Amino acid sequence: MSRTLNRTLVRALPDSAATEALGAQLAPLLRRQSGGMIWLEGELGAGKTTLARALLRALGVQGAVRSPTYTLVEPYELEGGLRILHLDLYRLAEPEELYGLGVLDDAPPAAWWLVEWPQRGQGVLPAPDLHLRLASDGEGRRAELELPAEWSAVLEPAKGHSAL
Ligand SMILES: Nc1ncnc2c1ncn2[C@@H]1O[C@H](COP(=O)(O)OP(=O)(O)OP(=O)(O)O)[C@@H](O)[C@H]1O
Ligand SMILES: [Mg+2]
Repeated sequence: MSRTLNRTLVRALPDSAATEALGAQLAPLLRRQSGGMIWLEGELGAGKTTLARALLRALGVQGAVRSPTYTLVEPYELEGGLRILHLDLYRLAEPEELYGLGVLDDAPPAAWWLVEWPQRGQGVLPAPDLHLRLASDGEGRRAELELPAEWSAVLEPAKGHSAL
């Protein structure tokens, strides 16, 4: 059920607050349908967890949002029956280990997945509905998002409103 990623957007993220703002901006997408696959790619320290945490908070997750570095997966149950799995596959020795994690029953459309280090699951991990890449850019970061054109409106400023 993966979608065609026919739009690419680039966004400068000069500081952590900008990464958090981008994460929060994605929240309405997760309210639109029961599940989907979001790949969060980028080197160590690129800001993947920062973005995922802000997204989860914007959806109403309260308290600490732990990085799934060691547990590999942190599940969330939100109001309205929305289910989200935050995964960090850095420690997968091979993609087939995903079968042993017992998460594939919850693959989209049953839940949304926010996946750090998706490359480690290549071949087993379902294809993305949104592919976000973070890269260093001086002191800050640069985000490149590939997504379905019909989803891009949440990230583009509404016409007729001037940015302050
Ligand atoms: N746009 C940005 N500019 C500068 N620093 C940022 C930016 N976004 C996030 N950071 C900072 O980068 C650091 C690492 O962030 P984070 O833990 O989210 O990275 P990660 O990609 O999840 O790393 P890992 O691969 O280890 O899981 C944090 O201190 C965070 O505040
Ligand atoms: Mg991380």
